[in-house]
Amino acid sequence: MRVGLGGGGGGGGGGGALGVPRGGTRAMGAGGRGPPAGARRGAGGGAGAARGAALPARGAARGAARGAARGAARGGRRGEVDRLGVAYVPAFLPAGEFQAVCEECRALRGRLGSETNAVAHGRRVLPLEAAGAPATYGAFRSPETLRRVVSLVGKDVELGEFPIEYRMYPRGSSMDWHLDEALYADPQYEVVLTLENTSNSVTEWKDLEGGRGREWTEPNSAVIIRAETAVHRVTAVGRGERSILKLLYTSTDEKLDAFHENWARTGLPALPDAPQKPRKAKGRPPLRPINWGRLGGGAGRGPGKGAGKRSAG
Ligand SMILES: [Fe+2]
Repeated sequence: MRVGLGGGGGGGGGGGALGVPRGGTRAMGAGGRGPPAGARRGAGGGAGAARGAALPARGAARGAARGAARGAARGGRRGEVDRLGVAYVPAFLPAGEFQAVCEECRALRGRLGSETNAVAHGRRVLPLEAAGAPATYGAFRSPETLRRVVSLVGKDVELGEFPIEYRMYPRGSSMDWHLDEALYADPQYEVVLTLENTSNSVTEWKDLEGGRGREWTEPNSAVIIRAETAVHRVTAVGRGERSILKLLYTSTDEKLDAFHENWARTGLPALPDAPQKPRKAKGRPPLRPINWGRLGGGAGRGPGKGAGKRSAG
């Protein structure tokens, strides 16, 4: 199944969670419908009402469980991210694990700090250490989730050593069009898991087959993007807010200098294997030019302020 295809962009919205099984990804529909309906619903798309937009409600958990059963029957789409560069995956974590992750992050909310980033504007961030966020690290390292990611990306991967980042998009924040920068010799797979979303912001991307995606990311959805492939952005938050986790999976432990450069940005102590002298990537093909013209139509027209930029996440 193709993900994020279609010239008009999709209209994800929050209603899709009940229609898409865990283990599946959702094809984009036409129309570019915005977030409003979904933005007022919780994980699972319908059960949560306004309160549910923040954390998954019981009904949402039941919905996710039903989705899991359907997903088991339908199976995954192996290698989808490698083929398209990007996939939108609703109901990414098992419902109970997602609940635990949300609660853990909510307790850390007061530690979010301002971020210096040339691509993101007004975003707040907190790098998480494994010891301080055991539920979060445990969820993304669980065998079930690893199997799911391996299927989607089409190769064996593990959670990368780069810290999971808790990020908040408050009102007025955004992230310009950019490519995620490779941190490993084999470009990593970046995962953005939405925790809470009361915003009207959407994530947009262009995949490797020329399709374009546009989603209001519902709680417990994951946008999975392979670094150096699919250009993407987050539109400005006009109302509400959106909180996410950004993490990565990698097929190799061969790090590039960019890994350590971006690690330094987190403020955490340097790793023992950090090079004394910058080491350039070997044999990595040059980036393909971004064809901004093919992004034409609607909100994604033109390069925007972040044209051609690369960013870690
Ligand atoms: Fe990114």
